[in-house]
Amino acid sequence: MKKIILTGDRPTGKLHLGHYVGSLKNRVLLQEDYEQFILIADTQALTDHIKESKKINHSILEVMKDYISVGINPNQSTIFLQSNVKGLFELTCYLMNIVSVSRLERIPTIKNEIEQKFTQSPPIGFLNYPISQAADILAFDADIIPVGDDQLPLLELVNEIAHKFNLMVQNKIFKPCQAYSSTHSRLMGTDGKKMSKSLGNTINLDSNEKEIKDKVMKMYTDKNHINISDPGKIEGNQVFYYLDVFHQDRNELDALKTHYQKGGLGDVYLKKLLIKDLNELIAPIREKRSQIMEDELFSILEIGNKKANQIVEQKLELIRDSLNFF
Ligand code: TRP
Repeated sequence: MKKIILTGDRPTGKLHLGHYVGSLKNRVLLQEDYEQFILIADTQALTDHIKESKKINHSILEVMKDYISVGINPNQSTIFLQSNVKGLFELTCYLMNIVSVSRLERIPTIKNEIEQKFTQSPPIGFLNYPISQAADILAFDADIIPVGDDQLPLLELVNEIAHKFNLMVQNKIFKPCQAYSSTHSRLMGTDGKKMSKSLGNTINLDSNEKEIKDKVMKMYTDKNHINISDPGKIEGNQVFYYLDVFHQDRNELDALKTHYQKGGLGDVYLKKLLIKDLNELIAPIREKRSQIMEDELFSILEIGNKKANQIVEQKLELIRDSLNFF
């Protein structure tokens, strides 16, 4: 039997290069050898966007367009909507009773997020999202969860919950999961800061040539590299940072780095190269995106939701049983 991967995104807007490098690219590769479930976490998105439910709802289709246009194949991967699989919330309710408030408050990611997002005590729903995420993972018996480093403590909690629950009901209901990190798990924004839509330092996967060009031309390089003949620095140079991720010809890139450090290589040359690389990556994605019909997306979701509901319902029967429910 194939191992199970569960992964997901909060639908808070279109996906960007950071998502591509950090997870989408892997999903396309992994769907060949694994049974892959992709959850669109609309309910989880509400935990810090409760007043923006319209935007969340609109983003569901945008995110799906991104999935399909990068090459996620709905015949290989099951795409489903969290809010449509009610069993996940039932399971969340059970699991909420075996995790303490202070255990949640101690999770570094949660601590940081609360500090950044809320001026007052956070909503219970937000504090609870790691448990809801644990339910997502455990309901599918997922083996592997592709995540960024900041999510690792959340997976620790998932395994803790699984272990605690099994011990409590004296039965192997849940199995432990493993993280899967990608090589570039976090791509920095075009300005060198943490990538974030609100900072405007992202490049969306449906960007046109002009948008790509504008973003790259604004990237900073080495502020002391004023004349072409000046020696330049690679470290902290945002254009080289991106070329390291996106330029395929490593030998050429090494030669360019040497040349730049020696002096005699202009920033505009490098920026043009990066623009070309990004266009080559994004053009086919953009093209595919423009051909997707919304009807197609609805039917993909319908099939995915149905499959997800069947799996979760089956699992819940075991869980209810273990908790002595009728
Ligand atoms: N937390 C993920 C995000 O912010 C979305 C998500 C919800 C998820 N449930 C999950 C990811 C389960 C992996 C597994 O995008």
